[in-house]
Amino acid sequence: MTASATVIELAGVTKRFSGRPPLLEGVDLRLEKGEIFGLIGPAACGKSLLCKLMCGLVPADAGRVVVEGVEITGARERTLFGVRQKIGMLFQNNALFDFMTIAENVAFPLVRRGDLQTDEIDARVYDRLKAVGLAGSEKKTPNELSGGMRKRAAIARATIAEPDIVIYDEPTAGLDPVTTSKIYDLLGELQAKRGGLVFAISSDVEALRRWVRRIGMLYRGQLRYDGDPAAIADSSDPVVRQFVRGDLEGPL
Ligand SMILES: Nc1ncnc2c1ncn2[C@@H]1O[C@H](COP(=O)(O)OP(=O)(O)O)[C@@H](O)[C@H]1O
Ligand SMILES: [Mg+2]
Repeated sequence: MTASATVIELAGVTKRFSGRPPLLEGVDLRLEKGEIFGLIGPAACGKSLLCKLMCGLVPADAGRVVVEGVEITGARERTLFGVRQKIGMLFQNNALFDFMTIAENVAFPLVRRGDLQTDEIDARVYDRLKAVGLAGSEKKTPNELSGGMRKRAAIARATIAEPDIVIYDEPTAGLDPVTTSKIYDLLGELQAKRGGLVFAISSDVEALRRWVRRIGMLYRGQLRYDGDPAAIADSSDPVVRQFVRGDLEGPL
C-alpha cells in the first residue's frame, strides 16, 4: 500500500479522564481506503471514545490523529469542520432529533453543508430512505419507528452525504438476530456502492466478525489484536481468546 491510501492514522494516541487510568495509552492504528475495520472490546474500554477522537469531538492528550492528511490534534474549529464533512457517523444511541421528521433528520447533513437546492436534497433523501428500506416513513418522527427502523434512519443520515469515511458505533445494539443480519446486509450494500473506509464498533462480536475484513480489540488502553477476523478466536493472546469465545475461565 502506498502512503496516500492511508485515510486515518492514529499514532501514540493517549487519553485519560481525571482520576482514572488512561482509556487509551499509545494507540497506533492506520486505516486504508476501502477497508472495513471492526473494533471490539469490553464495555467502557474506550471504543466510542476512539471514534470521537477520530472526528475531533474529543481532543487527545498526546499523540497524533491524522484524517486524510489533516492533523486534527489541536486543530482549529474551522479545520475540524472540514474534517467532519468527510465523516459520516452513526452514534451508539442513534442521536436522531426527536422533534424532526425522519426526512428532516436524514436531510440534516446535506442542509448543513449548504450547497444543494431543496429539490435536490428532497430527491436524495427519498432515494436514501428507499435504499435503507424506509420508503413511506418520511413524515414520521423517530418515536413512531421501531428500534430497527430508527437504526436504518440513522444509517441513512450517516451515509447520505456520501462521506469518504463512515463510522458505525454499535449499528445493531438492541436489535434481534434477524434484524441484525439485515442491518449488516444493508451496511455491506452501502459500502459496496461507495467503497470508502468503514470503521465499525460492536459488542456483538460474532456478527461484526462475519462482516469486517480486519478486526481490532481494545483492552486496557491498548490494541491487543489487529488482524484477520477469522483467526481472532485462535489468537495466542489469552485475553483476546477469552473475550472472543466468551469463556468463563481465563485472565478476564
Ligand atoms: N467526556 C468524558 N468525560 C469523562 N468520562 C468519559 C467521557 N467520555 C467517555 N468517558 C468514560 O470513558 C469510558 C469509556 O467510554 P466509551 O468510549 O463510551 O466506552 P465503550 O468502549 O463502551 O464505547 C466510560 O467509562 C465513560 O464513562
Ligand atoms: Mg460505546
